[in-house]
Amino acid sequence: MKTIKVNITKALKGEITVSGDKSISHRAVMIGGIAEGRTKITGFLSAEDTINSARAMIALGAEIEGIGTETLIIKGKGLRGLSEPENMLDLGNSGTGIRLLMGLLAGQNFFSVLTGDASLRKRPMARVSEPLRQMGANITGREGGKKAPIAITGSKLKGIAYKSPIASAQVKSSLLLAGLYADGETSITEPMKSRDHTERMLRFFGAEIKEKDLTVSIKGGQRLNSGELNVPADISSAAFFLVAASIVEGSDVVIKDVGINPTRTGIIDVLKNMGADIELFNKRDFGFESAADIRVRYSALKGTTVSGGLVPRTIDEFPIICIAGALAEGETIIRDAKELRIKESDRIAAMAEGLRRMGVEIEEFEDGLRIVGRERLNGARCRSYSDHRVAMAFIIAGLKADGETVVEDTEWISTSFPDFMNKLNSLKG
Ligand code: S3P
Repeated sequence: MKTIKVNITKALKGEITVSGDKSISHRAVMIGGIAEGRTKITGFLSAEDTINSARAMIALGAEIEGIGTETLIIKGKGLRGLSEPENMLDLGNSGTGIRLLMGLLAGQNFFSVLTGDASLRKRPMARVSEPLRQMGANITGREGGKKAPIAITGSKLKGIAYKSPIASAQVKSSLLLAGLYADGETSITEPMKSRDHTERMLRFFGAEIKEKDLTVSIKGGQRLNSGELNVPADISSAAFFLVAASIVEGSDVVIKDVGINPTRTGIIDVLKNMGADIELFNKRDFGFESAADIRVRYSALKGTTVSGGLVPRTIDEFPIICIAGALAEGETIIRDAKELRIKESDRIAAMAEGLRRMGVEIEEFEDGLRIVGRERLNGARCRSYSDHRVAMAFIIAGLKADGETVVEDTEWISTSFPDFMNKLNSLKG
């Protein structure tokens, strides 16, 4: 077990870039692998989760050069060119990796088994296996296909119109990828809009995707062209520094080239509602996505409420929002976020436990939290529950805590942001 010790810090200052967007990086290797010809990806997130997806595509026959770096060259195999993997595909810690691949593999003409680490094997897969079965997929697995390992015997798929009970980009993307292999049209309707990176990327690769209100549709059999794509920096990684600079007096930080797809920018809205001093400049198109440089300066925060449509746009940022709330004046209330219970950890329970240890008054709901802010935290020993974002959130909390904060199991940070500590230390001057 790796632990990181943190002490109260003075102003954070400087300019940083954070690593490439995780969601876009996963999709780039998968879609590049089934495109025709050579795809070059720059700004790829070279972290455990996305490397596992790239390795899975290699095991399926795609040729990928540059693993371990931020520039990958993929020789795509075309829609029908993947082949049966010799072994199980291990997606490690990544829900996106396994769920998107389930969709991609359901319509192949071969057998595959997907698995992951202890955390991933606890997470629900029925949200994907059930609609895929409605499309004709042959999926088995633990608890009847509800948990990984998941075994897929590739089969002929037919398009369906699926009304998803949850706003989940993983579910939507899995079905869109399966839809490429299905007869007819596959459409997915969500209760609220989730991140749309798959739709944008498939369009960039030449597929026709229709969108009307909250319904996205794709016709099967569309061939994908290859191309060059540049991945913007991950706003979900930038979020830790947006909050760090907001809570540490005297801070002034610029984060460059951050992806600002509107389905992902809930954190900026939440922090601005809290009174944060955040400025976006140099806004520009970044291929089929958009990016900006973000300047954030210390500002006294006040409590806020995060609920409803803001939740899917902020879904990965709740651990660090809890830290902002714990250091804001007044109460911060999070509701409609019961999905947090089934992320890499139960993030509601994990954040409540650690913040209580740091002296914060906190109430847990099934779908959220009520956090009573204070001026400083107490240094404490905080558990990350093997969750990268919980670990990073408590490291940031330690910057504003009296006494030492010790965060446990910090090795998980490398699933999404291996360079996190170096970036943080570089801002301490
Ligand atoms: C992701 C979608 C979200 C998010 C996850 C990445 C994606 O999950 O929490 O970290 O890349 O599609 P859900 O789709 O389950 O909400």
